[in-house]
Amino acid sequence: EGVEERGLRMLIFGKPGSGKGTLSARLIKEYDIAFVSTGDVLRKEIAAQSEVGKKAEAIVASGGLVSDELMLEIVKTELDRLHGKSWIIDGFPRTLHQGELLDSVLNQENRPLNMIVHLNVPDAVIMARISARWVHLPSGRVYNTTYSAPKVPGKDDITGEPLSRRPDDTPETFSKRLQAYYESTAPLLEYFAKTYPSSLFSLSGSSSDEVLIAAGLKSPPSSSSSSSIISSIS
Ligand code: AP5
Repeated sequence: EGVEERGLRMLIFGKPGSGKGTLSARLIKEYDIAFVSTGDVLRKEIAAQSEVGKKAEAIVASGGLVSDELMLEIVKTELDRLHGKSWIIDGFPRTLHQGELLDSVLNQENRPLNMIVHLNVPDAVIMARISARWVHLPSGRVYNTTYSAPKVPGKDDITGEPLSRRPDDTPETFSKRLQAYYESTAPLLEYFAKTYPSSLFSLSGSSSDEVLIAAGLKSPPSSSSSSSIISSIS
């Protein structure tokens, strides 16, 4: 009674383009952790022109947020798949209501969140990164022409298929996504700080190395032994 199910149940939280997908990809490469990106799920549904995809397409294209009801439906399906595993969710929750819904589902099953990583990156840094982002849509793999370039320009490292730009990465749509973050998503930070005071990790830093060092995926230049999220995972 009262014993929580073991395993990692982690959210990666941050502004659009803050590096959530990139950091998640590094973590799941190192550890046996399942991963869900609600953005990737939506892009696949849109590409497949499913019922969900048709409902979400115009909203995603305009930089707005898909309804909480539709998102919860998607996430519930994913959570069933994740049952009993360690997992990371990227892109959900994105509103206070989504956060409360997620908590109530997880708490009912006695498997509450136990790690929330907040990537805190300045807007100007993000804008520069987005203009250099290329993606492999079928897999969700992300590249950057300056930071993590593909081995062959314009081609996915694994399949060799062509990379593309995300349609919602234009400057106009991206600034709408940032605005949606500030209006609807940012209030979740306070909620997390209140609900999970000892599970919230904020990684600040505008350079690639600062974030990787804080995440424990790269050694600091000196032998300082700062704590990292990796030491909390393992
Ligand atoms: P989603 O796909 O979740 O988009 P996002 O939150 O805007 O995040 P991004 O995927 O753009 O960025 P990221 O933080 O993963 O950064 P990345 O690693 O690529 O959602 C898309 C849309 O779906 C939303 O706009 C909404 O419409 C809808 N949606 C999704 N979930 C929803 C929900 N729950 N509710 C309602 N609607 C929802 O990195 C960015 C770039 O920077 C890359 O080029 C990368 O190579 C580079 N980079 C990353 N890290 C570093 C680093 N440390 N140093 C240097 N460069 C770096």
